[in-house]
Amino acid sequence: MIDRAKQAWGIVLTGNSPDNRGGARSTIAPRAFEDEVPRNIVTEIVSRPRLHPHIITFANEKGGVGKSTLAFHVTVALAHAGRKVVAIDLDRRQRTLERGLTYRGGTASNLGIALPCAQYAVLDQPSTASLYQTINRLGGDADFVVLDAAGADSPIFRRVVALADTLITPINASFLDLELLGRLNPVSGIPESAGCFGQTVSDLRREKLAHQLGRTDWVVVKNRVRSAEKRHIGRVDQALERLSVAHDFRIGQGLSERVAFRELFQFGLTHLDLDLIPGMTQPQASSRSEIAALIADLGLQVEPRVRASAAQRPAARVLKQTRENFRAALNASI
Ligand SMILES: Nc1ncnc2c1ncn2[C@@H]1O[C@H](COP(=O)(O)OP(=O)(O)OP(=O)(O)O)[C@@H](O)[C@H]1O
Ligand SMILES: [Mg+2]
Repeated sequence: MIDRAKQAWGIVLTGNSPDNRGGARSTIAPRAFEDEVPRNIVTEIVSRPRLHPHIITFANEKGGVGKSTLAFHVTVALAHAGRKVVAIDLDRRQRTLERGLTYRGGTASNLGIALPCAQYAVLDQPSTASLYQTINRLGGDADFVVLDAAGADSPIFRRVVALADTLITPINASFLDLELLGRLNPVSGIPESAGCFGQTVSDLRREKLAHQLGRTDWVVVKNRVRSAEKRHIGRVDQALERLSVAHDFRIGQGLSERVAFRELFQFGLTHLDLDLIPGMTQPQASSRSEIAALIADLGLQVEPRVRASAAQRPAARVLKQTRENFRAALNASI
């Protein structure tokens, strides 16, 4: 697996790794990587017809920070607000966003109800051409395109970061996660250099501005915040404030650690959906208000519209027993 990845990236190991002891450093072979500089990426975007929808990219080179969880909740919240949403999962192995949205369709069918939905797909070919085709096939006239990137640098990763009108980077409240944005002096607390992801974003944003492609609104949001870690979170917040000035990002309130944000995944639901389902447990007000605050922080201007999108997936006719069994399983999971 590692060898395959190295081949794909043309990585030449010359460092003191178990693969190649005694060398001095790692380099990346120019063959695979030389075209991946920000200028070429942005030039490629400029050469294509401009996309109409507002592009929201969830990206962080750090894995497991909640990109897909937030992408799913934001997609559902935008659909609830009556917006036409296209959601594209860039992670061809995990497919979390795609699975959540597929389960959502299954839930709507099994309960015989209409749910606000998005058009969605996994990006099969990790290329700009394929991405544009997929967006245009699913809805070039959509209000929003939500892109959920896998948690590692790659050519397509850089492209979806470059394409973002709004770039959302979830992080855990941890100095390990801040390190990817930028490094701070541990004594003075002063930002010293960009981290790997911070550098990528900064280079792509600069290149976009040089090509009159507009400013990427970069929003970093803490996720899985636990109230018990107050003192530590205070230190992380202070560091994050400093990094936000150094690297020009906004800080969103983010989400706390809540079972409510993961318990309904198998059903493709969020707590925003529960009052659309007859006979369901009361939705958790706190998780709904966190999502509302997140949407407000993103500055997406989504005042509620008439639920036009609910009509996208009309209620299916379903056997009473099927509906009851499904509702019982759903109730048991909350
Ligand atoms: N706010 C939250 N509260 C509780 N659990 C959460 C929250 N956010 C994410 N999780 C859980 O954290 C784990 C990682 O989340 P997720 O898969 O969304 O991260 P990711 O950044 O998309 O990961 P990857 O880099 O692998 O794509 C999952 O088990 C998810 O259910
Ligand atoms: Mg993910």
